[in-house]
Amino acid sequence: MINTVFKDGIFEGKVALVSGGGTGIGLRIAKELLHLGASVAIAGRKEEKLAVAMETLAEYGDRALSLMCNIREEDQVNACIDTVVEKYGKLDFLVNNAGGQFASPAESIKAKGWRAVIDTNLTGTFLMSQAAFNKSMNTNGGAIVNIIANMWNGFPVLAHTGAARAGVDNLTKSLAVEWGARGVRINSVALGAIHSSGLDNYDPESQKTFLEMTKKNKPYRFGTEAEASAAVTFLLSPAAMFITGETLKVDGGAPLDSPLFPNVDHGKMPAFDDK
Ligand code: ADE
Repeated sequence: MINTVFKDGIFEGKVALVSGGGTGIGLRIAKELLHLGASVAIAGRKEEKLAVAMETLAEYGDRALSLMCNIREEDQVNACIDTVVEKYGKLDFLVNNAGGQFASPAESIKAKGWRAVIDTNLTGTFLMSQAAFNKSMNTNGGAIVNIIANMWNGFPVLAHTGAARAGVDNLTKSLAVEWGARGVRINSVALGAIHSSGLDNYDPESQKTFLEMTKKNKPYRFGTEAEASAAVTFLLSPAAMFITGETLKVDGGAPLDSPLFPNVDHGKMPAFDDK
C-alpha cells in the first residue's frame, strides 16, 4: 500500500501527466497523485510497460490513462498533451520524470550517444513543459516538477546526463520567471541514489557500482520511491504555492559529506517507505 503524509482528496479535480510514469519512481508518483484524487496520465515509450502499469492502476478507473510518447519527438509531445487536454479538459500538473543515460567514461561517449542523452533529459523536459504551457497552463495555471539528480560536484562517468540535468536546473529558473505571472510554478527535485525498478535498465557492472555507493556515502542507505514521490507531491501541493524556480535536494545529505571534515557518523538514516 502506498504511504502518504498528504491529506485525502487534496488533488481532487486536478489533472496530472507523469512522463516515464510506467515504472519505478514515475509510477510511484502517479499512484500518489491518483490516491490523492487527481486524474493522471502516465506517458512512456514502451507499450508493454504501460500496459503492466495500468493493471496496477485499475482501481482508479477512468482517472488513470496511459499514453505512448517519446519525449524527444515534438509531434509526439504535442499529441500527448493534446490527448490529456481533450480527455480531462486541462493539465494542472506536469512531472518531467522520464530520463535515461548510460555509464561511460567521457572520452568514449560518441556524439550520437551524447545527443541522445541531452535530447531525452534536457530537450524532452523543455518540449513537454513548453507544450503543457502553450496548451493549458498559460490560461489555467499549473505546476511543473522536473526530476534531476545529485550532479552538484559533476557526474563522473555520466557527464552527458550531468550536463543535461544541470541544464534542467537552470531551465527551472528561467521558466519560473517567464511563466510565474500566468500562475505556473516550476521546481525541480534533485534525487540522490533511490532504490527503484529503474535500476534494472542499467548493465550489471553499473548496477553493482550503484549498489556499492551507499557504503561510502552518508546516509548509508538508498532513498525510497516514497521519499522521492513525497517531495514531488509537496512541490505540486498548495503547501508550495510560494515556491518556484527552486531545486529541492532529496539525497539524505550525501553531497555534504566530505573527507575534509571530521567524520560524524551516527549510522544509517531512518527511512520513509511504503507499507
Ligand atoms: N523514458 C526514457 N526515455 C524516454 C523518452 N525518450 N520518451 C519517454 N520516456 C522515456
